[in-house]
Amino acid sequence: MTCVENALPPRPSSRFESSCCRIPGRENPHLFWIESRLRLGWVAFESETPSTVDLQGGTMSNPITSTLSEESQKIAGDALQASLVDLIDLSLIAKQAHWNVVGSQFRSVHLQLDELVTDSRTFVDEVAERAAAIGVSPDGRAETVAKTASTVGFDEGWQKDGRVVGAIVANLAAVVKALRARIDATESADPVTQDLLIAITARLEQLHWMWQAQQA
Ligand SMILES: [Fe+2]
Repeated sequence: MTCVENALPPRPSSRFESSCCRIPGRENPHLFWIESRLRLGWVAFESETPSTVDLQGGTMSNPITSTLSEESQKIAGDALQASLVDLIDLSLIAKQAHWNVVGSQFRSVHLQLDELVTDSRTFVDEVAERAAAIGVSPDGRAETVAKTASTVGFDEGWQKDGRVVGAIVANLAAVVKALRARIDATESADPVTQDLLIAITARLEQLHWMWQAQQA
């Protein structure tokens, strides 16, 4: 029978105590286990990992470090989280409208809404991943979106094309207004996050203009 414990550094256990694995001078299995890992650099590696793992609940706290100060990370993280839920809801509103629009302008509005869905989903991913990049866990759960989004919503049921255009303009205006406040808030805290929010705002303001032009 092969003695595996002699080939690999074993964990302290009753198996280690078996006669075939007993090493002369290594009567304390726990010390041998620690020494083995020190030699392999495992203990040093584990101490550098910036994580606290809860093996019971499967959650982690701060596995991703940030180059930002704690204060800047908080400001940028809050701005990104708030933008994330707004953009998720904007994409859902646009899809709901895409399915429920009726009227003589159905085809153009229906297609234009999917353009907004595509852009919003792209922005959602960029914002969420920027939050992750600065060590902030992005929360895009439906419950969080429903509780915290600053959008103005969309009525249920079939909607005439004119009402859809008005609702999309109002939602775009609300999202852009909130984004502009976050652009101001992140100016010194994190210019990289600010740059992302500026780019998103520029595109949403362009879309706001194009939707609003249909109301004239
Ligand atoms: Fe579709």
